[in-house]
Amino acid sequence: MAQQVILSGMQPTGSLHLGNYEGALKNWISLQDDYEMYCCIVDWHSLTSLYDKTEVLKDQIFQMAVDYIAAGLDPEKCAIFVQSQVKEHAELHLLLSMVVPTPWLERVPSYKEKSKSLGLDSYGFLGYPLLQAADILLYRANFVPVGKDQLPHIELTREIARRFNGLYGEVFPEPQDKLTKFAAVPGIDGNRMSKSYGNHICLSDTPEETVEKISKMFTDPEKLRKGDPGRPEICPVFTLHQIYSSKDEIDKIDRDCRSGALGCVADKKHLAENINKALAPIRERAAELKANPDTVWDILNDGARKAGVKAKETMQMVREAMRLIQ
Ligand code: TRP
Repeated sequence: MAQQVILSGMQPTGSLHLGNYEGALKNWISLQDDYEMYCCIVDWHSLTSLYDKTEVLKDQIFQMAVDYIAAGLDPEKCAIFVQSQVKEHAELHLLLSMVVPTPWLERVPSYKEKSKSLGLDSYGFLGYPLLQAADILLYRANFVPVGKDQLPHIELTREIARRFNGLYGEVFPEPQDKLTKFAAVPGIDGNRMSKSYGNHICLSDTPEETVEKISKMFTDPEKLRKGDPGRPEICPVFTLHQIYSSKDEIDKIDRDCRSGALGCVADKKHLAENINKALAPIRERAAELKANPDTVWDILNDGARKAGVKAKETMQMVREAMRLIQ
């Protein structure tokens, strides 16, 4: 049986942080062996909010591609590419826009929330989830690895696929979500790690920056000094230990924090060391790639070429089904 297809997408926000890595990227990396996989850097989606700051895009795409590859996405196994380099995304978006009723888009939760809070009122912003559906359907993807916040978009994509198939004949499979297991990575302030909160640690931070950031992390507010008993279960430093430290270390930290024997300063130093150890190989590969930017652009061009083959095949099926001139 032919391999099933996965399409994943991420807006180019520059260097990835630990939340992106633990919550999404690791999952993609583990899927690339078993699926025909497409990893799309969705720069057109970024334009829905960045349309007046386009000068940052190229650099953000580059940084993100560096982190993808350094972390282990293998360009031999999956196509890593930039959305705007595969023009068929735009063509499919346009054709789908003819068959999707506007209210389907107006009732998407992210549209309702963000159009008010961010003051986004462009035609393109309303079409954001439609462009996402086009990304997915263009590769006739069976699965889309996403976080919970994206589920309404995948549901909408299935509705669009059904509508298209009903009107013109079966072209698209209905894509299923592949929910990421581990998504909750706390940031410096204990809230979910996110660039927009400014509480993040980047893969590309230096070891020193990592130590510095971890030293500022929030901990149990009732543990003021070494000797005070702490509560690991409410401490974001402890949550990160659960990702970056061994089982034995975690058990010992749990005991010594509760008894008061372990102070937060030493505990944070320990965590920063473990994070730095885990990230060292990624940071090393990233430095090599940054020293050879042409390698990165070549990988993206090659990825766009591979993605283009599938995209062209799908568009031919779509035009045929719609009885358009080829
Ligand atoms: N909306 C997604 C996000 O904000 C990004 C995205 C665009 C995407 N196209 C996609 C995700 C296709 C998965 C598949 O994270």
